[in-house]
Amino acid sequence: MDQAKRLRTAMNQMQHPQEGIPIRSMETIAHCPRVISVTSGKGGVGKTNVVVNLALAFTRLGKKVLVLDADLGLANIDVLLGLVPKYTIEHLFGGEKSFSEILLEGPGGMRILPASSGVSDLVDLNETQKLFLLDEMDLVAEEIDVLLIDTGAGISSNVLYFNMAAQESIVITTPEPTSMTDAYALIKVLSTQYQKKNFMMLVNFVSGEEEAKGVYRKISKVADHFLNCLSLDYLGFIPVDEKLPLAVRYQKPVLEIFPQAPSSRHLENLAKAVFERPMKSTENGGIHFFWKRLFQSQKNREDERGTV
Ligand SMILES: Nc1ncnc2c1ncn2[C@@H]1O[C@H](COP(=O)(O)OP(=O)(O)OP(=O)(O)O)[C@@H](O)[C@H]1O
Ligand SMILES: [Mg+2]
Repeated sequence: MDQAKRLRTAMNQMQHPQEGIPIRSMETIAHCPRVISVTSGKGGVGKTNVVVNLALAFTRLGKKVLVLDADLGLANIDVLLGLVPKYTIEHLFGGEKSFSEILLEGPGGMRILPASSGVSDLVDLNETQKLFLLDEMDLVAEEIDVLLIDTGAGISSNVLYFNMAAQESIVITTPEPTSMTDAYALIKVLSTQYQKKNFMMLVNFVSGEEEAKGVYRKISKVADHFLNCLSLDYLGFIPVDEKLPLAVRYQKPVLEIFPQAPSSRHLENLAKAVFERPMKSTENGGIHFFWKRLFQSQKNREDERGTV
């Protein structure tokens, strides 16, 4: 069969599942959880708050959410939510707990893998442990619709790995020139060294839409000029809002305790905007591919180091 015919047959089968496409494949196509990283060049721009509030907003849209705290330097999603982790991945590999059991449960039923549970060790597993983890992930993947990752800030290798492995990335910046240049630097490294070409931009700490779009236009203009084939979409903004730091002090998502606050309303709309965007492709999507890409990117780097 020639290539065009194979493609037509495959398309036809997707439209007419009764005509022979295996049930398992259809399930896989229908259930491909989105994997979204939330990242920034500069620290302190609002990533962790965006992650917990978007996660809560997603649960309210009926999505099942898993949050991965991959900020290995200053992990604090559990602190932000007033939760106390009980188990670590040691319990998982020791066979005492399943992956599902080491997750914390947060507002709206979101589940959280806190950094303190040993996320940093995930980047340093042996082959048997990786395969075991992939199997465990596959079990959890069936139960979730979106994996949201707080990557931490900067261009350290872990931030780059987690971003590179995620299918979609939200880059947060503020109008501060240092935050904008650092956001650009991160996008540049990811696109030139890791072939990541699709980004969403979220502008935080602004007075309104005009300021946010001005920030986006500046970064996007430079990216268009210097970086090849890059898609940098404007996702939206969050205004400066005194209720947000107040919610942090109560260790609750602002969306939960101040639902009418300006930041809450914007976060809710941002969550809808994320799901209204069509996924660029379901190819290589999902959780299994995320972990595989994560492990592979580390291996490549180790191999490179070994050959230098
Ligand atoms: N729109 C906003 N209005 C007012 N304060 C905000 C806003 N967004 C975030 N903040 C405040 O900024 C501080 C930093 O937020 P957050 O911890 O979410 O940033 P981060 O990017 O995760 O930081 P880090 O890089 O250190 O992990 C918090 O005290 C938070 O309350
Ligand atoms: Mg943070």
